[in-house]
Amino acid sequence: MLEVKNLNVFYGNIQILWDICLKVEEGEIVALVGANGAGKTTLLNAITGLVKPASGSVTFMGRDITGFPPNAVVEMGISYFPEGGRLFPDMSLLENLEMGAYLKTSWKQRKERLERVYRIFPLLKERRRQLAKTLSGGERQMLAMGRALMSGPRLGLFDELSYGMAPKLVKESFQMLQKLRDNGLTILLNEQNVKQSLEIADRAYVLENGRIVSGGSCEELLHSDHVRKAYLGL
Ligand SMILES: Nc1ncnc2c1ncn2[C@@H]1O[C@H](COP(=O)(O)OP(=O)(O)OP(=O)(O)O)[C@@H](O)[C@H]1O
Ligand SMILES: [Mg+2]
Repeated sequence: MLEVKNLNVFYGNIQILWDICLKVEEGEIVALVGANGAGKTTLLNAITGLVKPASGSVTFMGRDITGFPPNAVVEMGISYFPEGGRLFPDMSLLENLEMGAYLKTSWKQRKERLERVYRIFPLLKERRRQLAKTLSGGERQMLAMGRALMSGPRLGLFDELSYGMAPKLVKESFQMLQKLRDNGLTILLNEQNVKQSLEIADRAYVLENGRIVSGGSCEELLHSDHVRKAYLGL
């Protein structure tokens, strides 16, 4: 579904990403694991068109989307879930969901998409008139995910889904991710929460100083000495 090939990204004259290659197959959850500053967000930004790579390519469903602007990337079927979800607190749930379908093509299909979101998260339907700021943490997360689905994505990119959350909410958020996958969304996620993301993902890549140093099934990585020492504190 997604293929990144030999991607190099600079900020000014500092190289941040070096020759990145990765693949995400349809139906997978793939995790990107790495320390602060490793380049995880930069990699997602390069895929979504927020940062222009110096060289290399990004292919999505067989189309070269390298350097496409962010709105075109969304229109192609990639949805970006930014850190913290960024809801509109003084708007109702329904209004927040509709904001996720702001592109012309999405707007035409918003009714069907809304029904689909309501099927996945029925609570969002019951509370549709309530203001977003009155929701609990878990409900907010649900709303942010629902909104990300309103652009009709095939692939969801999640940056630090669980950042700053209490453990119970982290667990609920990961369960919501699995639910999205079961409903047909392919997922690439960045996580500080290495253990939990390796437990729910199918495969993972380890990013260190802008380079992918290992990759494989989560099963393998959970047992690798390097991952256990560097990321799991074992
Ligand atoms: N706009 C920018 N201009 C210059 N340098 C930047 C910019 N954005 C990020 N960087 C640098 O690029 C490197 C990678 O940052 P990035 O945000 O991709 O890391 P990360 O892996 O997402 O880290 P974290 O886990 O802390 O979110 C860091 O050294 C950061 O300081
Ligand atoms: Mg980051």
